[in-house]
Amino acid sequence: MIIRSAKFIKSSSKLSQCPDSQNPEIAFIGRSNVGKSSLINYITGWSKLAKTSGTPGKTRTINHFLINNDWYLVDLPGYGYARTSARQREMWINEVENYILKRKTLVCLFVLIDCRITPQKSDLTFMEMLGLNQIPFARVFTKTDKLKQSELIKSIKVHNNMMFEKWDELPQYFISSTKRKLGREEILEFIEESINIFRNVS
Ligand code: GTP
Ligand code: MG
Repeated sequence: MIIRSAKFIKSSSKLSQCPDSQNPEIAFIGRSNVGKSSLINYITGWSKLAKTSGTPGKTRTINHFLINNDWYLVDLPGYGYARTSARQREMWINEVENYILKRKTLVCLFVLIDCRITPQKSDLTFMEMLGLNQIPFARVFTKTDKLKQSELIKSIKVHNNMMFEKWDELPQYFISSTKRKLGREEILEFIEESINIFRNVS
């Protein structure tokens, strides 16, 4: 897929504020600081589209970006951010979960996982929730420039083995590095296929 245009449309703090649109959308989710906003910038080629930060908790709303005047990329707030207040965590659970479970035009989610970190309960329980609700998703192992190839393979294996405790078949995964420019083509191809399937069945 060729990205011809990418523009910020709006930030919403709840589902009812999201754009009133029938266009398909693809959302990025994962723990705070895992690299959601950076990945959106990398795969669109618009380096300042989504706001990134070295400090966790940067993205706090549901952000819609219109791509090729045709479909949306959605940047979501991170979960598992220890320093957020209880009230903010509640907002995340209620509003982001509400968005994921009820947004009719949501085609697929990318669940981002930092390749350096051992499987986290927050990631595993979040993916179980997606599975139980039949929300299509794929995993993306981020920041792969930080590991040697052998370490990366090992880390993915550990992650898969952990998931096999609950899953019979594992969701597809991608590897990415915004620093080494890895993963863009594969992720865009997956997005294109997912949108085509969505359009053919809806
Ligand atoms: P929140 O919005 O706070 O939940 O974070 P986020 O998941 O959107 O992360 P963000 O994209 O803001 O990136 C967090 C930090 O990780 C930034 O300092 C990025 O530069 C860094 N980062 C993101 N992707 C990569 C990567 O592939 N490699 C390396 N080395 N650093 C990365
Ligand atoms: Mg962010």
